[in-house]
Amino acid sequence: MRFVFTLFVLSLAALEVGAKLQNVTVKGIAVCNKRRLANAHVVLIDKDTLDPNDELANIHTNKEGEFELFGEEDEIGKIEPFLRIHHNCNAKPGCERISEYPVPQEKIGGIYDMTYVTLDIIASSEKTKCQ
Ligand SMILES: *[C@@H]1O[C@H](CO)[C@@H](O)[C@H](O)[C@H]1NC(C)=O
Repeated sequence: MRFVFTLFVLSLAALEVGAKLQNVTVKGIAVCNKRRLANAHVVLIDKDTLDPNDELANIHTNKEGEFELFGEEDEIGKIEPFLRIHHNCNAKPGCERISEYPVPQEKIGGIYDMTYVTLDIIASSEKTKCQ
């Protein structure tokens, strides 16, 4: 019993040392055909090798196309967040485009200001979903 308890305490201590609470703030303005795009769905996700990808935060762009998200997660090693934007910029009727943008590692713990996110340009990671 005592041995089990010691193991338990040791494993808690290991978690304490290994996992680190990390955060990032991502903000920007969604633009489509030179106009600000309202109501695009912006999701901040942590790319995880073991778990399925974790959603950290999500928001819709406002009337000015602006968005700002804060996410934090406890993780061993560095978090690898990326932004996934669901939008209809230049999409066929009934379809949505899903564009993904990585967050640079040096922005972890700070603010990643993407300024204008030009959604007409096809992102390096991009999908189209139709109903
Ligand atoms: C985000 O992480 C940085 C670096 O670890 C830390 O200094 C800061 O206080 C954190 N911000 C919040 C709001 O937790």
